Amino acid sequence: MTLADLFPEEDYRFNFRFERGSISEFFRPTAQHDEIIEQRRFWLEREPAKHAALLPEGNALLREAIGIGQAERTFNDEMNSALIRGGASEWELCVELGKVWEPDFLLLQCQADGVVRLVAGCICFPSSWSLAEKVGHPIEHIHGIVPGLNPALGNPIQNFLSKLKPGAAWLRANWGLSRSPELNQHPDRKLPRLDGQMGLDEVWLRIEHQALVGLPQTRGVLFGIRIAVHPLAEIRHDPVVRVGLLRALETMPEPMAFYKNIAAARGRLISLLE
Ligand code: HEM
Repeated sequence: MTLADLFPEEDYRFNFRFERGSISEFFRPTAQHDEIIEQRRFWLEREPAKHAALLPEGNALLREAIGIGQAERTFNDEMNSALIRGGASEWELCVELGKVWEPDFLLLQCQADGVVRLVAGCICFPSSWSLAEKVGHPIEHIHGIVPGLNPALGNPIQNFLSKLKPGAAWLRANWGLSRSPELNQHPDRKLPRLDGQMGLDEVWLRIEHQALVGLPQTRGVLFGIRIAVHPLAEIRHDPVVRVGLLRALETMPEPMAFYKNIAAARGRLISLLE
């Protein structure tokens, strides 16, 4: 999925497009492995309860996700032995998985009554949300804060998740703008916010590349998230993305701009891009 795909020639709206991708390609180590893992270890060692969560219902999903990770060769030998060494309890295994995989991950359980509930995960690099507030809740509740998302896409999202075909990673992406290039944007960090004054070199486009993987044995879903950060100063030189982002900023409904922390900065962002 290219950056231009995220900014089609249309007014802002929620996207519900998926591409079929490979589990192995999404989760396996990249050239940035060491620097990403260093940050993940830092946050998981310093504040494990803030960046990881595991309910008892999540244990079997965690085991199945690790099994798929092994079958798909997303772990090299060193990562595999760290998992075996570090995983004395289910909780330690969950945290260890967060320390060896580059992407953040969430595990959701599709219940017999149709409810899809978040039961575990490691999120070192949240985009301004808190895992502790979300764990244990159904997907509609988790998305409840996103203005208009449930009325527009609540049912399709739930359906998609409960019928996910195993064996592939279904890829999509979200984007946001931030005044910080930090990967970890947990709300408690109180990072600087966009406003009407900032300069071009103080804004970053933040992309969340997401992968949804079916866990057929436990009727679960593995949700992987990778963050990519691009300086707005660079984005400005890409004619397609610049025009697409401008159009999204100009047409985004006010409640959505408020939710995305750009309402106070919208005019400034538009003038920086023009
Ligand atoms: C399957 C299709 C999905 C779609 C179309 C979707 C769509 C969205 C959108 C549009 C946002 C707002 C982000 C923004 O524009 O800045 C959002 C936020 C979010 N989504 Fe999803 N999502 C999906 C699946 C999931 C899943 C499986 C989870 C797992 C729990 C999830 C968890 C979240 C969370 C935690 C947020 C941030 C909420 C907050 O700010 O408190 N989403 N999602």
